[in-house]
Amino acid sequence: MGFKWSAVQIRPPRHFLTSSTGTESSFGLLAPIVPRSNVYNERGKPLHFLSLDMGWVPVLGGKGMTFEIRPCRTEEMDEYRRVASTSLGRPESRFGDVRPEWTLCGFEDGKLVTTYAAWPLTMRFNGAGVPIAGVTGVGTLPTHRRKGHVRQITRAHFEELYQKGERPIAALHASLAAIYHRYGYAVVSYEHAYSVEPRFLQFVHPVVATGEWRPATGEDFPILVDLYRRFREERTGYVHRGRAMWEAGVLAPAPAGGHLASLLYYQRKDPQGYLVYTVEPETKGFGDWTLHVTVRDLVWLTKEAYGAAWELLRPLDLADRVMWRRVPEDDPLPHLMHEPRMLHVSIRDGVMARVVDVAKALPWRHYGVPASLVFQINDEFCPWNQGRWKLDTSGQETTVRPTNAFAQLTMPVRTLALLVFGQLGASAAARVGALDVLDHDSLDTWDKAMRTKYRPACADLF
Ligand SMILES: CC(C)(COP(=O)(O)OP(=O)(O)OC[C@H]1O[C@@H](n2cnc3c(N)ncnc32)[C@H](O)[C@@H]1OP(=O)(O)O)[C@@H](O)C(=O)NCCC(=O)NCCS
Repeated sequence: MGFKWSAVQIRPPRHFLTSSTGTESSFGLLAPIVPRSNVYNERGKPLHFLSLDMGWVPVLGGKGMTFEIRPCRTEEMDEYRRVASTSLGRPESRFGDVRPEWTLCGFEDGKLVTTYAAWPLTMRFNGAGVPIAGVTGVGTLPTHRRKGHVRQITRAHFEELYQKGERPIAALHASLAAIYHRYGYAVVSYEHAYSVEPRFLQFVHPVVATGEWRPATGEDFPILVDLYRRFREERTGYVHRGRAMWEAGVLAPAPAGGHLASLLYYQRKDPQGYLVYTVEPETKGFGDWTLHVTVRDLVWLTKEAYGAAWELLRPLDLADRVMWRRVPEDDPLPHLMHEPRMLHVSIRDGVMARVVDVAKALPWRHYGVPASLVFQINDEFCPWNQGRWKLDTSGQETTVRPTNAFAQLTMPVRTLALLVFGQLGASAAARVGALDVLDHDSLDTWDKAMRTKYRPACADLF
């Protein structure tokens, strides 16, 4: 069997308009043959085709199916939700807020088989807010897996991000981290989780909290927003929340049978923190029941507000457990507890991030000390990052340029994500074999420059 002619509908897909040709002129009546199409044959090779601006045109395809990468249209969003739900095993409502223009999906012979989307988010980056692509809803129908669809879509997405130059970092919460390392992602934050009986919330340094807790009403929403904004200001990994994100996450209704508590902590007239938690009953046996308390979000601007939150939870006598997932790695509680092991701390990987555009990403964050750093990046997946770079920073102002200077460190691009998010210092990365040191004298400066004020963390699932 040789090649066959396949019919592929050519329309103005976002990726196509911003493909590596970099011009919109490649899309138009009687335009030339497109050098890099968004349609692939079954072996993952891009197909070349005539770029006409509407209708069905013949495309010289490979054996069997064609594969097209493009955003879903509005009328395809029901199908998007159905495919995402089938692939990821989550209810369709979970994908309800995704807009068509945020998607970049895979179509086999015109049928939607792979979903992929990116929220346009802003993530805190050691004192700055960096625009990122929050990758979400990645799934291929079980009947169409292991054909390279996600690999091709990821590549197309990174090319698009690079061409547009607006969002130099991609980040996601992975179902399995193993899927994403190969694309240059690294685990840049770890989530701790607590599960503690309220009676063990006893502190070595008792909290002297002279403020008071007040229930937060709907009118207090701007106060919650402002407290969260001040809390996340200097941190790394937290995202800016729009109202929809608050309503779908922290302030979403409690599960059936439970209730949601939102409380503000005031010191005199000054709000200094908030605590949002749910209380759910659980039947333990015949006529026996208990309550589970789950902390949704805890934000504090002072140590009094932090301590007061746990003082508030201790007297919940009917609860056999207080649980908090997505606890930041540097959370103070273990240091305060009389019996830290009673927290039953567990750890799992949190956010994975990928530096898509080295030159644009690194100037966003602030650095610990003024420094001149030269490094070699290896990045076959995004070849525009490949090579030697020089970062010059005053701490606040930073430039990153290609250079021929001698590299102090050489690393794969995923290690760079660990360094710039402050997950690992350069010395620690060298110890675990994540980079090679060519100039050992530079390590101290690297460590000081890359350190973030707080450990990277993210309180939201996106
Ligand atoms: C993960 C998933 C999206 C991959 O889709 P796909 O179209 O089969 O992807 P590809 O064929 O491009 O494979 C992607 C790569 O990930 C690898 N991979 C897929 N599933 C994996 C897993 N569970 N563990 C480790 N690697 C995995 C593949 O081997 C492939 O590697 P390669 O590019 O080096 O050959 C798909 O298996 C799926 O929908 N799984 C269930 C939903 C899910 O977990 N989604 C991820 C949400 S973050």
